[in-house]
Amino acid sequence: MSLDLSTRCLGLTLANPLVAGAGPLTANLDTIRALEDAGAGAIVLRSLFEEQITGRELGAAKHLYGHAPSAEAQSWFPDVDAFALGPDEYLEHVQRARAAVRVPVIGSLNGTTRGGWVHYARLIEEAGASALELNLYDVPTDPAADSIAVEDRLLGLVRDVRAAISIPLSVKLSPFFSSLPAFVRELEHAGANGIVLFNRFYQPDIDLEALELQRTLRLSDSSELPLRLRWLAVLSPITPLSLQASGGVHHGRDALKALMAGAHAVQLVSALLQRGPGHLAQVLTEMREWLLEHEYDSIETLRGSMNLKRCPDPAHYERSNYMALLGSWQ
Ligand SMILES: Cc1cc2nc3c(=O)[nH]c(=O)nc-3n(C[C@H](O)[C@H](O)[C@H](O)COP(=O)(O)O)c2cc1C
Repeated sequence: MSLDLSTRCLGLTLANPLVAGAGPLTANLDTIRALEDAGAGAIVLRSLFEEQITGRELGAAKHLYGHAPSAEAQSWFPDVDAFALGPDEYLEHVQRARAAVRVPVIGSLNGTTRGGWVHYARLIEEAGASALELNLYDVPTDPAADSIAVEDRLLGLVRDVRAAISIPLSVKLSPFFSSLPAFVRELEHAGANGIVLFNRFYQPDIDLEALELQRTLRLSDSSELPLRLRWLAVLSPITPLSLQASGGVHHGRDALKALMAGAHAVQLVSALLQRGPGHLAQVLTEMREWLLEHEYDSIETLRGSMNLKRCPDPAHYERSNYMALLGSWQ
């Protein structure tokens, strides 16, 4: 039986739904090539941060790149000095990555405020990116900024980026919105073509003896997937946007679940840092075997089959099952 693993995402046809997500492996041309060789359907480059362009304090970027990786990931962390890669070097990186591989290369901008820095969206398009991912990694701390103000600011940024580019635009989101479905609809009106669910928030710990905050970057595991599954399942019947899962995809079965919940593609970062780029081939094999065993002939027939509208027991995704669940505790 023939099996069609291709998927449409952000208006692009991907040979399969496995996307190498933004992170250290996509900051390096050798690992980018290795990711393509292992079967990546697309590659998201690590982000260019608003702070790198404006010269302000590097907030989120420091969490992601400003410390030694855990022992498990050490061998696969390429030697990346993220801060040596200024905005111009980033544009060169986009060009080189585009020339190095045949799969779509997605640029990534990471920021939260409107401003002149947004013109880098156009420069990333001109450097050859097939699409742009805008990461809205935002940590509101000002009680004077209510949820409407926060959402208006983020939507304004999305509109500005949309106006600057003509390539597809996806928006990487936090799970923390009062009404995610309503915000996603607003993103659609602002010109987004897709969303990525979700950012992981990097939580500082407290060192009790030194009385200092400790930066911790724990890689994910599959236990982070169900948060994504729920919201993919809720959103996929009600939005025309391309949906990508990010967070907790480590094995073939994780990818299959996300696709069933409604994802068009899934991104992997921690799994590839832990096991190396070649792990993508293993994930693809696991998916292929399961799909053939269960007589699926394409990703399209699988996609959304367990979303809120199509699963046999939608209450599990909703509040209605909440009391029953608590009662089932042994
Ligand atoms: C070391 C590291 C660096 C990352 N750098 C970026 C980045 O530059 N831009 C971005 O949008 N996400 C970045 N991420 C977040 C990942 O793209 C991804 O959303 C997150 O790790 C969850 O996926 P995972 O469970 O597959 O790791 C980074 C993650 C890690 C672990």
